[in-house]
Parts: sequence; C-alpha cells; structure tokens
Amino acid sequence: MKIALGADHGGFELKEEIHTYIKSCGYEVKDFGTYSTASCDYADIAIEVAEAVARKEFEFGILICGTGIGIGIAANKVPGIRAALCSDTFSAHASREHNDANILTMGQRVVGAGLASDIVKTFLNSTFEGDRHTRRIDKITAIEAKYNK
Ligand code: RB5
Repeated sequence: MKIALGADHGGFELKEEIHTYIKSCGYEVKDFGTYSTASCDYADIAIEVAEAVARKEFEFGILICGTGIGIGIAANKVPGIRAALCSDTFSAHASREHNDANILTMGQRVVGAGLASDIVKTFLNSTFEGDRHTRRIDKITAIEAKYNK
C-alpha cells in the first residue's frame, strides 16, 4: 500500500514521527514535505498530496498541520478527496467505514505521537462498509459535480 504524506511547519515534527512509524509497518511512503520547521503555507502541501491521491497514485494520504484543520479544508477542495480530521481512534475507523475517507488529517498541537500512530494504524486497517454509506458518498460526489461544472 502506498501512502502520500505531507505537513506544514506546524505539523513537521509529527510528520517525521509518522513517517518513521508507517515505514516500520511496511508501507511505501512518499514525503511531500515540508522538510523543515521554516514557515510555509499548508494549502501548498495539501494540494500536492490531495491531487496525487485523487489521481490514485496513492491509496491514502496523511496530512498534518498545527490543528489538522487548515490542511484538511484545503485538501477537501480537490474533487474526489474526502479528508477526515481525526484526534481519536473511533473517528479514525468510522471515517473509513462510513465516509470512505481517503486522507487522514491530524494536528500536531492536538495529538501526541503515540496517539497519532494509533490513529494512523486504525485508519489504514479499517475498510469502507459500502451499503447505505455508498449512497451517502454518492450524494457528496453529486454536490462536488454541481459546483465543478
Ligand atoms: C500554522 O501556524 C497553523 O495555522 C497551521 O499549521 C494550521 O494549524 C492551520 O489550520
């Protein structure tokens, strides 16, 4: 499984920890930056990861900023992206099972590295349940199509 990883300066340190963790789990990871704590803009990283996931070059993306909010809002502007902000493992598996989330976002200023690793593990090991949830995802896709004319 291939994972696209990215963060702004507010998520840089947690990204480094998560990079090491997901590699140790045997996943293939591409790091889209940022590569230091120098200030940068989360939308620039979000679009790189989100477009790569939308093109299906990666099965999932993981995006980290200070809160996980800005980078997730930006990623969700890319058609086909369903980025879910998770700060707990329940949300992590529900976002896959119910929402078919394809990007996980987290906040370095919100979760510690241990919890973040558990969230990542839970997200990557959970499966979309389909059924009634497919109808709901289809309605999200229809909203996207309505505004992308
Ligand atoms: C950067 O200071 C911070 O605003 C950013 O990482 C993120 O938390 C925005 O949502």
